[in-house]
Amino acid sequence: MLNKITEIAKEAGEIIREGFESNFKIEYKGSVTNLVTEIDKKSEAHIIDFVRKEFPSHSIMAEESGKDFRSSEYVWFIDPLDGTTNFAHGLPIFSVSIGVRKNDETIAGAVYDVMRDKLYVAELGGGSYENGEKLSVNSTDKIEESLLVTGFPYDISRNPDKTIERFVAFLKRARAVRRLGSAAIDFCYVASGVFAGFWETKLSPWDFVAGDLIVREAGGIVTDFDGKNLTPSSVRILASNGILHGEMMKLIREAE
Ligand code: IPD
Ligand code: CA
Ligand code: CA
Repeated sequence: MLNKITEIAKEAGEIIREGFESNFKIEYKGSVTNLVTEIDKKSEAHIIDFVRKEFPSHSIMAEESGKDFRSSEYVWFIDPLDGTTNFAHGLPIFSVSIGVRKNDETIAGAVYDVMRDKLYVAELGGGSYENGEKLSVNSTDKIEESLLVTGFPYDISRNPDKTIERFVAFLKRARAVRRLGSAAIDFCYVASGVFAGFWETKLSPWDFVAGDLIVREAGGIVTDFDGKNLTPSSVRILASNGILHGEMMKLIREAE
């Protein structure tokens, strides 16, 4: 299964790399802040084609084309291009994210950081890897010494939902806070020890199913803001090296 996910994530990455800085068509998904390009669609069509050929009975939940549910215990969560705003503006930080759940448990995931040619993978119980090297979260035990990352929802102007307050609370405590623009890559950098933690609201399952497993298999913790394990309908997500999880949750609660 992981070999197949890896193969298709890299193929989709090739499509995206070829499309980067080309003259692609851009459309709006409801608002001018939420973009989709023809490369997102091309990448997704390629992945879905592959899944349909290799695993015809499996269900699919993909960002651009939605649900294709079959009577199967397997569901594929597909983000064909995570970081579309970066991609559309020529900023080389974006990825392909594919996670597979079986009977309500994530069993495998891959995130391909396209321009760095880094493939992050995890299998349940098997650890996490970056281009074949085993990953491990960092051991930062003070927020003051941590580098953190977050993201902002597309509808922040209409539904601010304390996003700014939370951001300010972390800015005042952490060594620094970054905003990369690809949630899937944010998870991978927690798994590899670059970031001690990542939080974001309004994520969709295709943004986090793979990343969640990659962080947990690297020894980190991923929950919602109430400390519960993620399900595909979770929206308020906190991933950390584990050591800082309680303290980050407390900061989030205090900023509510
Ligand atoms: C977005 C990115 C971004 C995050 C947004 C996501 P998309 O995904 O992951 O980092 O802040 O919440 O929607 O739209 O580029 O696939
Ligand atoms: Ca996404
Ligand atoms: Ca996307």
